[in-house]
Amino acid sequence: MLQLNGKVAVVTGAARGIGRSISLALSTAGADMALIDLTADSLQGVLEEVTANGSQASVHGCDITDTDAVAATFKEILEQHDAVHILVNNAGITRDNLLMRLSPEDWEAPIRTNLTGAFNCTKAAVRPMMRQRSGRIINIASVVGLIGNAGQANYAASKAGLIGLTKSTAKEFGSRGITVNAIAPGFITTDMTADLPETVTQKLTENIPLGRMGKPEDVASAVAFLASEEAGYITGQTLLVDGGMVM
Ligand SMILES: NC(=O)c1ccc[n+]([C@@H]2O[C@H](COP(=O)([O-])OP(=O)(O)OC[C@H]3O[C@@H](n4cnc5c(N)ncnc54)[C@H](O)[C@@H]3O)[C@@H](O)[C@H]2O)c1
Repeated sequence: MLQLNGKVAVVTGAARGIGRSISLALSTAGADMALIDLTADSLQGVLEEVTANGSQASVHGCDITDTDAVAATFKEILEQHDAVHILVNNAGITRDNLLMRLSPEDWEAPIRTNLTGAFNCTKAAVRPMMRQRSGRIINIASVVGLIGNAGQANYAASKAGLIGLTKSTAKEFGSRGITVNAIAPGFITTDMTADLPETVTQKLTENIPLGRMGKPEDVASAVAFLASEEAGYITGQTLLVDGGMVM
């Protein structure tokens, strides 16, 4: 059983889906939680769940694309929790369309949230981690960032960028005892994938050796491992949680 007692974990996009599941897994392992999403109201349900797990927890309404709001939120988190040991950059969006139909706004939106948002939070979290000379940063990428996907050039570019950010920051922060890793989920059942037509999910599942879509918990348990002491010699890696879809 992984132990995260005494650790403070920040999770972005914690209100639902994979972020909610990550928050439950880290709090079950004993971490105190700072939960971030666009509005504090949307986090009330998860707050109740992590508190029931015994965590000291706080909620923070913050748009991670807003640099000043992120800086103010991390100041608030440090005032309330005194430390940040674990950062999970999970918040993400899609704006799918074929490239020829992609507007400049829709090209930029996933890059701003998925990549610049992670940059903003990493920059804010790494200061206290450097002082502590330890920390864990886990970026939620996607297999699409490795293999591409028609209709998702913007999203794939943002996730490939996140993998580049992961490797570069792993090199920059390694000497301070901070590890940085990415997780690349395959197809996971959440609101993000809820709109896919039945025929598409059936076809996708046929190409997954484990024969099913992933669950948010499948991603969350990999995050809990990478956040633990036991993963202390792993950095700069991208761990695929995809049922064997990409290999
Ligand atoms: N579901 C999948 O199949 C899948 C596959 C690979 C990767 N991922 C990645 O996993 C992560 C979570 O995905 P999910 O399926 O749980 O998505 P989701 O849409 O269910 O949840 C995303 C959460 O992020 C929040 N969010 C969005 N923009 C934000 C912003 N600017 N500031 C703060 N919060 C913001 C949303 O409000 C929402 O609560 C994303 O990064 C996604 O790209 C998902």
